[in-house]
Amino acid sequence: MMGVLVFVAFVPFALAFPHQQTGSSLSQPSTKIVGGSSATINEIPYIVQVYKNGGPQCGGSIISRTWVVSASHCLEGLDAANVSIRAGTDQFLKGGVVIQASDVYVHPNYNLQTVNCDIGLIKLASALSFGPTIAAISLANRKVAAGTLAVVSGWGYLAGGDNDTAPIQLQKVTLPVVSNNECPEVINESQLCAGNESEIQSSCFGDSGGPLAVGNTLIGVVSFGYDCKGVSYYANVTNLHSWISSITSI
Ligand SMILES: *[C@@H]1O[C@H](CO)[C@@H](O)[C@H](O)[C@H]1NC(C)=O
Ligand SMILES: *[C@@H]1O[C@H](CO)[C@@H](O)[C@H](O)[C@H]1NC(C)=O
Ligand SMILES: *[C@@H]1O[C@H](CO)[C@@H](O)[C@H](O)[C@H]1NC(C)=O
Ligand SMILES: *[C@@H]1O[C@H](CO)[C@@H](O)[C@H](O)[C@H]1NC(C)=O
Ligand SMILES: *[C@@H]1O[C@H](CO)[C@@H](O)[C@H](O)[C@H]1NC(C)=O
Repeated sequence: MMGVLVFVAFVPFALAFPHQQTGSSLSQPSTKIVGGSSATINEIPYIVQVYKNGGPQCGGSIISRTWVVSASHCLEGLDAANVSIRAGTDQFLKGGVVIQASDVYVHPNYNLQTVNCDIGLIKLASALSFGPTIAAISLANRKVAAGTLAVVSGWGYLAGGDNDTAPIQLQKVTLPVVSNNECPEVINESQLCAGNESEIQSSCFGDSGGPLAVGNTLIGVVSFGYDCKGVSYYANVTNLHSWISSITSI
């Protein structure tokens, strides 16, 4: 039992970039995420890269000119001075614009053991200029039906295990949403899961904080998973929308 708890405690970090990983070792671009395909920023103009001290940490989603949503486990323990984002590019660590954070917020009920309420907010020090490559995504405000197809995107690793390379080009993959009570792991309403236990498609290390979207609606924020395949877990934006609104008025 103790072993299980400890394992779960470390799970959320599994989907943030391992901290020793730097751009210099990411030398093997590939056309395949874990079962996904390349995407352009024009297709997913709401995605950003979240940096810690200038290095890759996580993904995030633009919800207004001055606010980005990411995961609690990506931002916990960081000051605004340590956080910046890169928007308007589908290239890892290149292009677009980099903007410093002026505030970061971690959900007060975020719980590392259960990974509940794994959502955080970044306030930008200067406003983004919207256009074809930089745009906001709207926040879900109703329950998402099981079987709904959703797109998760990011620059996370292309496979689990030893095949730990991050792509240069943004990747996306489509996953079916699973009803909360059918997720392999017991979760609460602040979470949701998506994917298929018998398939390889999944978010992976480095995708944390990034978007799970249905059209132009953000339904989930990448939180954790096992072995980068099968079912992966997300913060449930519908459930956490009221907290986002309480801080951003969005
Ligand atoms: C945040 O940045 C400051 C100044 O660069 C640095 O001293 C500190 O270690 C950083 N904190 C974290 C958690 O990385
Ligand atoms: C997400 O949260 C909403 C509101 O609490 C809830 O109705 C729903 O069952 C949760 N899960 C999914 C998959 O939407
Ligand atoms: C890593 O890639 C090799 C060669 O493509 C493959 O045989 C192996 O199963 C992969 N391992 C994992 C953990 O994905
Ligand atoms: C989910 O867990 C969080 C953190 O423990 C808690 O604040 C919240 O009330 C829980 N939600 C439900 C629906 O149980
Ligand atoms: C999961 O994938 C299997 C194998 O491709 C398929 O038969 C099954 O219908 C899928 N289940 C769901 C819930 O999509």
